[in-house]
Amino acid sequence: MRLIFGLLVMAVWAAGQGHQATPLPRQQPTEDPAAVERGQALFKSSCGFCHGDDATGARAPDLLRSPVVLRDDGGNLLGPTIRNGRPDKGMPSFTTMKDDQIAAIVAFLHHQANLALHSNRVARDYPLARLLTGNAQAGKAYFDGAGGCSGCHSVTGDLAHIAKKYSPIELQQHMVYPSGNDVSKTATVTLKDGTEYRGKVVHQDEFNIGLMCDDGWYRSFRADEVKISEKDPLEAHRELMRKYTDADIHNLFAYLESLK
Ligand code: HEC
Ligand code: HEC
Repeated sequence: MRLIFGLLVMAVWAAGQGHQATPLPRQQPTEDPAAVERGQALFKSSCGFCHGDDATGARAPDLLRSPVVLRDDGGNLLGPTIRNGRPDKGMPSFTTMKDDQIAAIVAFLHHQANLALHSNRVARDYPLARLLTGNAQAGKAYFDGAGGCSGCHSVTGDLAHIAKKYSPIELQQHMVYPSGNDVSKTATVTLKDGTEYRGKVVHQDEFNIGLMCDDGWYRSFRADEVKISEKDPLEAHRELMRKYTDADIHNLFAYLESLK
């Protein structure tokens, strides 16, 4: 497609030689429809929660007016933005996204930006108004019930005052993509008598495992005397978050945002 566009540019350029050079009309939607369609699906699942399914902004900026999108040429700016994210500003990095997936998202964004450019839509929803679209009560019910969040979290324990700890933008990021700052691995250690300790693995070698337990105490165990089950909490969390519907996530966010 880019090649075709390039040839088109050359053709117009060649045609313009000798005459008054005509400025190129702003590029009409030229993206490959199949790529756009694929990109739309990817965008919806990976980006839509924050940027809005149509990219016009939700809790994160409207991308159709973003200089990054408007100045991007075939992914040269968008690619790095997606890969690296802006972790300090609430945009997660998508380090594992494949080139063809990024290319599809780029095609979708250019397509959308072009449509917006050629449409007369003046009034846009004010992005911030969309931030708290969920229902906190429904979020609470979901947290304690079907969502299973309370199996790992407690709003009076680890998530107490979470909305004070993070700005709304950060909170949504940590909820959907908990970052690995101080989180490495958690493990559950089961003693012979059945007692279980769960916590962060802060030390591990052939013989011992040391946990910072959920009750705040550090405990060390002989590896051959206990049963250890480990998991990567972040991966599990991402898997989980993919299962929830948009409405669930909006409700959960409204609920967590109320935990001042
Ligand atoms: C958890 C929320 C979140 C997700 C998911 C997310 N973003 Fe972002 N994104 C943000 C925030 C917040 C910013 C603004 C960062 C800043 O202020 O610099 C941003 C900024 C951007 C920008 C730069 C906008 C500009 O003009 O500076 C682009 C482009 C972008 N995101 C694309 C994407 C794409 C594509 C995806 C999916 C692959 C995605 N984002 C997923 C939150 C998110
Ligand atoms: C299988 C266990 C598990 C389940 C179920 C689970 N989480 Fe998590 N969650 C974690 C782990 C582990 C972390 C990362 C460690 C941490 O930050 O406490 C985390 C992090 C978070 C954070 C960021 C906390 C912080 O202080 O940065 C939020 C918010 C969160 N989860 C919300 C939820 C919600 C909402 C649900 C239910 C929809 C849920 N989690 C379900 C294990 C779980």
